[in-house]
Amino acid sequence: MKRLAILGSTGSIGTNTMQVVAAHPDCFQVMALAAGSNLDVLEAQVRRHAPRFVSVATEASARELRRRLGRTSTEVGWGLTGVLQAASDTGAHLVVSAMGGGGALLPTMAAIAAGKDVALANKESLVMAGHLVIAEAKRRDVRIVPVDSEHSAIFQCLVGRGAGLAHRIVLTASGGPFRTRPQATFASITPEEALRHPNWTMGKKVTIDSATLMNKGLEVIEAHWLFGLRVEQVDVVIHPQSIVHSLVEFVDGSMLAQLSVPDMRVAIQYALTYPQRRPSAVARLALEGIGALTFEAVDREKFPCLDLAYEAAQAGGSSPTILNAANEVAVAKFLDRRIGFDEIPTLIRKALDSHPGGPVSTVEEVLEVDREVRRRLEEH
Ligand SMILES: NC(=O)c1ccc[n+]([C@@H]2O[C@H](COP(=O)([O-])OP(=O)(O)OC[C@H]3O[C@@H](n4cnc5c(N)ncnc54)[C@H](OP(=O)(O)O)[C@@H]3O)[C@@H](O)[C@H]2O)c1
Repeated sequence: MKRLAILGSTGSIGTNTMQVVAAHPDCFQVMALAAGSNLDVLEAQVRRHAPRFVSVATEASARELRRRLGRTSTEVGWGLTGVLQAASDTGAHLVVSAMGGGGALLPTMAAIAAGKDVALANKESLVMAGHLVIAEAKRRDVRIVPVDSEHSAIFQCLVGRGAGLAHRIVLTASGGPFRTRPQATFASITPEEALRHPNWTMGKKVTIDSATLMNKGLEVIEAHWLFGLRVEQVDVVIHPQSIVHSLVEFVDGSMLAQLSVPDMRVAIQYALTYPQRRPSAVARLALEGIGALTFEAVDREKFPCLDLAYEAAQAGGSSPTILNAANEVAVAKFLDRRIGFDEIPTLIRKALDSHPGGPVSTVEEVLEVDREVRRRLEEH
């Protein structure tokens, strides 16, 4: 029986994780949950799984959740202290890191520092501080298993081989909702249009990132750290059907790919059951029904966020932290209709140009850079 803590249990990855857990009651026990403010979903999860501990974003939400739960034995915490406790101090073997954005960095680090294996969905923590996260995982002998479907695909292709014989990896990208839309119309894109992803239902931030292709840029940096490859060894190709989740090209020219229907429960379940595989109720892939799988190059002029991410990754140090913070601010501003879709890369470019990137050797330094970038961008 694997004991789990699930951070971000009410989100898109979180609720899919809870479905996987519910489908395998003999495999998993939920020790802790952490969420923000969606008390209806969280209350139902607590009633069903009876965790030892649950955390919410604010004291007011904690009070309300305690009132709703009445006499259940689950302890309720809140804020950063609460989520850190859920990550590190509730008897879990494996922590699912599925909060959105840079706020997941400290809880992910806390889980690793406490010697917990991590099923990592949150990509921002690796983008911000990949060198620190990976070094801490090595020091504590902790396993990080990717949940992101592309990285799960690479991980599955490399099982038993390691990345040493990989010549390069190829991350596939659906291209998002604007793959075929003329760039000249990008200024008029609304949040509603950008939130309509063709293949995946996800949280808002990652859906906008998929529309700008910054999501793929963040994934390039994530892959660089997870698999210990040089940034130049990580390529991206557009694959609109989202069936081939990514590929590894080995030194001898042979390529391996992982395929499945686009359903996050495949990657989530693999991360939870690894190194085992278990049966799943997810739809099977019927290739004859799909007919054709197509691939094309990224239009890098139309989607400049991808090259901004490569640039930040090559620069290293605090540059990816700056990239990530600027992107989070830009996406929030776009969702609030304060900037246009076409201004997202402009704002990130400005942040990269105006903040001197430099070495960052502690999480505190990373967070300081993150705060400074957000503060300056919010002023404009
Ligand atoms: N969705 C996908 O298919 C997908 C695929 C690959 C990778 N990812 C990555 O996985 C991460 C999560 O994505 P998502 O789409 O699942 O995001 P999401 O739907 O927006 O969910 C975010 C989760 O974080 C919780 N949260 C917010 N503030 C919190 C706080 N202070 N303490 C604890 N929890 C808090 C939210 O709780 P409330 O809702 O209760 O406020 C929610 O449970 C992102 O890094 C994303 O890039 C997602």
